[in-house]
Amino acid sequence: MLSRRETLLTALKAACGISVSGESPLGTLLATPAAAQAPLRPPSQWLFPFGAALRDGPLAGEPDYRAAIVRHCRQVVGEGGLKWFDLRPSRDRFVFDQADKQLAFAAENGMDLRGHTLVWYGAMPDWTKTIASAAEAERELVRHIETVVGRYRGRIKSWDVVNEPIPDDPSSRSDIRPSIWQQRLGESHVALALRTAARADPEARLVINEYDIEFVGERFRRKRDALVRLVRDLKLRNVPLHAIGLQGHLRGDLAIDQDGLSAFVAEMRALGLDVLVTELDVVDDKLPGQPELRDMLVAARAYDFLRAIHAAARPAAVLTWGITDKYTWVPIWFKRSDGLANRPLPLDDGYRPKPLMRVLEHFGQGLH
Ligand code: XIL
Repeated sequence: MLSRRETLLTALKAACGISVSGESPLGTLLATPAAAQAPLRPPSQWLFPFGAALRDGPLAGEPDYRAAIVRHCRQVVGEGGLKWFDLRPSRDRFVFDQADKQLAFAAENGMDLRGHTLVWYGAMPDWTKTIASAAEAERELVRHIETVVGRYRGRIKSWDVVNEPIPDDPSSRSDIRPSIWQQRLGESHVALALRTAARADPEARLVINEYDIEFVGERFRRKRDALVRLVRDLKLRNVPLHAIGLQGHLRGDLAIDQDGLSAFVAEMRALGLDVLVTELDVVDDKLPGQPELRDMLVAARAYDFLRAIHAAARPAAVLTWGITDKYTWVPIWFKRSDGLANRPLPLDDGYRPKPLMRVLEHFGQGLH
């Protein structure tokens, strides 16, 4: 007789075309009950530092949330707190309270806080729309980065200096996403931001962070190519840049371009850059409702993604965008039409580990 899990694996294939044979590493992983597994290294000993994005409300008010973060994470990053919208309510003010609290929490628990983010088209306070000239844009951008990176010098060791520089459907390899910085300074704002961050903290790891790099399809290949073009250009001009962050907001309904992603990671390594996963989750709005089946499909997508990365290099870190389905940004954009809650993250809403956590554990052990 087929076990319940094997039945689900078969259903997985029927529902989504994902072939998970019982003998494949993923099939074995999903079909083996956690209790029957060989002993695992704990998260503190995984081969890459694992972490998650923090939300301030539950961090302050919910002991289970705090405990889950402390138990699993070696790194954290604020879902907000270091975005312009949070730091810069007006041109003359810097408000560091939220970020300071996150940093204190991380330090108390022996975790690193990543910095997210210095240059982004999103989460911009309205006053920045009044930045009218190239000279003014340069002045504001430099002042912001010097002040923020300078304040956390030696304490925030990795910065998403530029977030999402490539448009969703780039018209050419040199297309850059519109923002006040792009409008006033053109592409040169990217190098300006990186150079300013390097001056403010010469030890910090400087990252360009991007999404939609990993799926099968022409649009995604164009986006990948445009990112490679930007990165090559920066390296050629000796602009300080240390790593590429793959956000990894995966879609349950989109297949991973395994060869394309591996080749991308290999190319970044050849340019001397690290690759890290900064915002992993699996958007499940288009997946079948049944929770067990959905959780396996989510795990299977993440498995394909992490396997393709590992085929070229071990990631310098893996962070998920939240730790529990209870607190996730996914329903803001990807609510399910059947009214069921999204399940994009490694722990469910009762802090129980899901198959996605098993997949993370698996790669954390150094298995592929
Ligand atoms: C999201 C946060 O999770 C939300 O709480 C906030 O309302 C909007 O921003 N890519 C990014 C993150 O780089 O900064 C976004 O975070 C999610 C998508």
